[in-house]
Amino acid sequence: MKVKIAAIILGAGLCVAVFGMPSSVRAGDEAETAELLIDLLKAGRAVVSEHQALINDSSRGNKGFTDEFLAQQVIEKFKAKTRVDLSRPNGVPQSGVLLALLEAEREVVLEGQPVINKQGVAFKGFIPAVFGRKAGEKFYKKTGIRLKLTGIDYRFPGNKPDDFESEVLRMFSDARHPKGQQYAKATMVGGKPVMRVMDPEYAGATCLSCHGGPKGERDITGTKKEGWKEGDLAGAISVIIPMK
Ligand code: HEC
Repeated sequence: MKVKIAAIILGAGLCVAVFGMPSSVRAGDEAETAELLIDLLKAGRAVVSEHQALINDSSRGNKGFTDEFLAQQVIEKFKAKTRVDLSRPNGVPQSGVLLALLEAEREVVLEGQPVINKQGVAFKGFIPAVFGRKAGEKFYKKTGIRLKLTGIDYRFPGNKPDDFESEVLRMFSDARHPKGQQYAKATMVGGKPVMRVMDPEYAGATCLSCHGGPKGERDITGTKKEGWKEGDLAGAISVIIPMK
């Protein structure tokens, strides 16, 4: 697997690899694990997104969008992207945490069944961002690894960026930052060493019905739209992995 994480000196915009870390830190492993977790979370969100019309279909009760169905689709998508096959986790070094995230994603869909299968209601609030947040919260309880969706103009209070995240988001929103490039840094949180990785996300056409213009108008969820345009920085997935 290719780890394509580059670090950037905050504010300066200079590309510098992050090799100046203590040698006891298995930095490569942590960063690679973070990248896989990000891909696995994205796979889950994508499966929800691809079935949004089904989930929002008011004419149907039982939709067959079960946790088992989600898991199968996520495993396939994740394998296509990373070549890691979670249906055969033996021999996958990170299988413990990856399976924990898959399990968390399943649980969100399992708990969502009454909502998803409700007939007569079109928009149920079961959307990729909420799915991702809930999966991240469950995953944190299982593993102690933080997996969070954040943004500068965040909606959900729990998605508020911390100081580190705010700084990296500012850097991501700078036109000089190479599009899509992740940021990784070994640092301390609460006096403990952690690896932090952030993966920028950009507004695509499908996001604009809720996050686009006109700014301040209410979207389908009843929240004020942010006025993003296609290609704007939307936010980032932020991972915090405690280091041994
Ligand atoms: C159906 C409306 C809707 C669409 C479409 C949508 N979002 Fe969101 N988005 C939301 C809601 C609602 C939240 C708050 C989620 C929560 O409760 O955690 C959110 C949260 C977010 C966040 C986390 C920060 C925050 O605001 O709390 C990011 C980043 C984000 N969305 C990006 C996107 C991107 C990128 C797309 C397109 C791929 C997208 N959204 C599509 C409604 C939407």
